[in-house]
Amino acid sequence: MSDFRFHVAIIMDGNGRWATRRGLPRVAGHKAGANAVRRTIEAAPGLGISVLTLYAFSEDNWSRPPREVSALMKLLGRYLVQETDRCIANGVRLQAIGRRDRLPAPLAGMLGEAERRTADGRRLLLRLAIDYSSRHAILDAARKASDNFTEDRFSSLIGPDVDLLIRTSGEQRLSDFLLWECAYAEMVFTPRLWPDFNSDDLAQAVAEFQRRERRFGAISATTDLRTA
Ligand code: FPP
Repeated sequence: MSDFRFHVAIIMDGNGRWATRRGLPRVAGHKAGANAVRRTIEAAPGLGISVLTLYAFSEDNWSRPPREVSALMKLLGRYLVQETDRCIANGVRLQAIGRRDRLPAPLAGMLGEAERRTADGRRLLLRLAIDYSSRHAILDAARKASDNFTEDRFSSLIGPDVDLLIRTSGEQRLSDFLLWECAYAEMVFTPRLWPDFNSDDLAQAVAEFQRRERRFGAISATTDLRTA
């Protein structure tokens, strides 16, 4: 992986609505969503993305009906089994963020196994947020950093800053996702429902990011300083 890091994070939203509009059970939307995950991972390196973080299951999602939770856990496990070899072949390194202790033991085991087997991947770092809460991640990092509480140390415990945050399905909120890391993220909200998200949508979001001027609180490089 080059030194230049372009970190895109995605809140994959709209699976349920996609299914309901088709008269299908919500789980069908999650299955179609897994295909969109596959497409997105394939397209990411070609768009210069070196780190991709996907919000697959939030801590809040435990409050969904048990059948849906169980189907999501199974889907995640199946995805890992089916996709790990492809990740290895394509230089994709997989990492999970979030709690592991509440996951079904087989899924936690599969995550560890996929992380070990893909550890040499250098083209794309794929981070799957599962049983994830950003507030809890921040609290955990704060506890660990207490002996040396600097911004750099804290950031190194939390994870890489996000450059571009995408949320699908027209919703416009962070929902406890990467709160610290998104401090300077550009945000792109698209009405597209996640199962319909494709490589063109990702390319459009990246193009939108490239059109934005990131000032990090300073003034524009093109501002005439005599009149500023
Ligand atoms: C939000 O849509 C989506 C989720 C809570 C789950 C995301 C899971 C996947 C995309 C599939 C599996 C993931 C991987 C990594 C293989 P929603 O159900 O809240 O949709 P709604 O707002 O329309 O109800």
